[in-house]
Amino acid sequence: MDDKRIDLLVHNIGTLITMRGAPGPRKGAAMSDIGAVGRGAVAIRDGLVVAAGPEDEVIAGLEARGTTAASRLDAGGRLAAPGLVDPHTHLVHGGSREHELALKLKGVSYLDILAQGGGILSTVRATRQATEDELYTKAKKSLDTMLLHGVTTAEAKSGYGLTLEDELKQLRVAKRLDASHPVDLVSTFMGAHMVPEEYKGRSRDYVRLVIDEMMPEVKRQGLADYCDVFCEHGVFSVEESEELLAAARAMGFGIKIHADEIEPMGGAQLAGKLGCVSAEHLIAASDEGLEAMRGAGVIAVCLPATSFNLRLTKHARARAMIDRGMAVALSTDYNPGSSPTESIQLVMTLGCLNLGLTPEETMTAVTVNAACAIGKGDVAGTLEPGKLADLVLFDAPNVAYLPYHFGVNHVHAVVKRGKLVVY
Ligand code: NIG
Ligand code: FE
Repeated sequence: MDDKRIDLLVHNIGTLITMRGAPGPRKGAAMSDIGAVGRGAVAIRDGLVVAAGPEDEVIAGLEARGTTAASRLDAGGRLAAPGLVDPHTHLVHGGSREHELALKLKGVSYLDILAQGGGILSTVRATRQATEDELYTKAKKSLDTMLLHGVTTAEAKSGYGLTLEDELKQLRVAKRLDASHPVDLVSTFMGAHMVPEEYKGRSRDYVRLVIDEMMPEVKRQGLADYCDVFCEHGVFSVEESEELLAAARAMGFGIKIHADEIEPMGGAQLAGKLGCVSAEHLIAASDEGLEAMRGAGVIAVCLPATSFNLRLTKHARARAMIDRGMAVALSTDYNPGSSPTESIQLVMTLGCLNLGLTPEETMTAVTVNAACAIGKGDVAGTLEPGKLADLVLFDAPNVAYLPYHFGVNHVHAVVKRGKLVVY
């Protein structure tokens, strides 16, 4: 390797958030330490960070080795952070559900809409009808929006096909996007998102189909790293969720769970018992559930745009989670029903205002902790030598400005794997 060459030097950064620290998710009080450096610079070679820190030190280090930078990006005194990570999205799906807004305004609940055959099931119908190319075009548009908002790594779940072929179709779209789009995608198989209409009243048969036919085929084709289950009243019970996730784990998938989103089901306890990498939603999670998660090191992925959009009066107790020493990540939950937004910046605002996180904690929650929740902690989420050169420049004077000045996009530029992809 030619260590006399730097491909890109990002300099004149007003505040550089490095997130550097011990490997792994940041827990409890450690979530406040964002490794901020005044007047910073980042040196990049071959898509990786070579140095990130105070500008005078970075430049002195380059000069000492006689290194020259092939190109420079003047940050103009702006705020820089690691590329943001969105660790829970239902990116690939057909159709949209704006008609549910009127029902919601009349007071019909999310689970009632679902029980009437709408909700997830209406998106299942639209996804089954869509061709692979149609799904690709629609998901690409959303991924472009995520990137414009500073996201450089995201998760994408299946779960709107609910037949082997339609689940594979969704997962293939995510793989194609991962290969062709600047945003890196981690795929999660979520055949257990809902019992499809043709299995109504026969959930046992559907669970067997997911375990016996879908999971092995998804594994065989290498189409997903994780399996996820929607553990909720009227969807999958705790027992069914355990059976599904234990089977997934035995097949070598990482495991995740939509837990205690609306009703306190004991999903968080199950996440602790099975050692899930993450449990998501957790709006109704009990103290015992949180304790089980803490003990097993399960990352809590909180989704405040979902509770906002479902007009719930309760929110995930993220403040209490951090205070008891847990690692919290934040995510959009982007999907056409409970959270139709790609904006991780809006989620940061809701993380502060509705979940009680500080701006620094929200930054940790959408970088290093989010990366760890999808198995990308070794490459993404911090700006340190050897990590991917994924970086966002925000038109903001400090970290607090991002959640404070809400509902607009603060991104000025995005660098992905050392390349300027948004400017
Ligand atoms: O995470 N909770 C289950 N799944 C999604 C919603 C899916 C939908 O409404 O289409 C969620 O909120
Ligand atoms: Fe979700």
